[in-house]
Amino acid sequence: MRRISPVLQQDGVDSNLLSLIKTILAACREIAFRVSQGELAGVLGSTLGENIQGETQKKLDIIANELLKEVILETGVVKAISSEEEDTIVAGNPKGKYLVTFDPLDGSSNTDINSLIGTIFSILPAPEDKAADDASMFLQPGTAQLAAGYVLYGPSTMLALTTGKGTRLYTLDKTYGGFLLTEELATIPKYTAEFAINMSNQRYWQPAMQTYIADLLQGKEGPRGKNYNMRWIAAMVGDVHRVLCRGGIFAYPRDNKDASKPDKLRLMYEANPMSFLVEQAGGASSTGYERIMDIVPVDIHQRVSVILGSKHEVESCIAYHQR
Ligand code: AHG
Ligand code: MN
Ligand code: MN
Repeated sequence: MRRISPVLQQDGVDSNLLSLIKTILAACREIAFRVSQGELAGVLGSTLGENIQGETQKKLDIIANELLKEVILETGVVKAISSEEEDTIVAGNPKGKYLVTFDPLDGSSNTDINSLIGTIFSILPAPEDKAADDASMFLQPGTAQLAAGYVLYGPSTMLALTTGKGTRLYTLDKTYGGFLLTEELATIPKYTAEFAINMSNQRYWQPAMQTYIADLLQGKEGPRGKNYNMRWIAAMVGDVHRVLCRGGIFAYPRDNKDASKPDKLRLMYEANPMSFLVEQAGGASSTGYERIMDIVPVDIHQRVSVILGSKHEVESCIAYHQR
């Protein structure tokens, strides 16, 4: 078993970037501990507040956000952060080389049922010519990411990480406190017979997605010629982890349930880092019409349709959108 730093040093990852990643992981270890204590630590349940996106905040959303924000800004190498739980960006060191975006706690609705949750993060280069409180610094496509990862708080605490040279999986060794490399090269199988989608939204989807899923449900007798299985964890981090481990297709497509919110997942905090991890593991990620990592954001809290996972299956789904 190898620790995180020697592995990344071999890839020639900049030492400042490496120490920033290690700092984020230190905060995640603290979150993992509090999550594991559950009700004993008084961290379960909701607050009275809402975030900028009108979602009720859980106590753990706030705790995780505060922990991450504090340690990341203390590194001195970060010019600003943008979080799902912050209305605006938070400025750091004007000379910092990096920007960090994060979803401090993904899968909030799972907190109170002791089910999978996680932290998702992404690191971008900081433009030198802009002020530390200028949110336009963050409007970079996913292809500009220097690193992305998630920490999954499950039966084991696991890290998926990429710096653009493949996706690696690590497991937190709670006896010594560090993340140890347990999968050198995560590889998503090209073909799959497993899909993850919130079926309760079916009647609100656009026709392309309705037809695609209807065809999967027909199984062997239908146009796809095989039986598909379904999973839904209600935490993207859990669903993407399964896709990285054994393949599958995960989708949170556009729907017309709430006209003010046609897409659910957030480009900067969820879709881009997960797309980077998935592509680096040989998978694909698209809106159905374009590659997610090519999108040039117009707003830090922008939302996007997501279809990601096993390459052949994602391509099949895209074909339904192009008909
Ligand atoms: P968050 O907890 O950060 O708000 O994200 C939840 C997201 C995503 O993780 C998950 O795939 C999806 O919302 C679950 O949505 P449903 O409530 O429709 O199942
Ligand atoms: Mn989330
Ligand atoms: Mn969240």
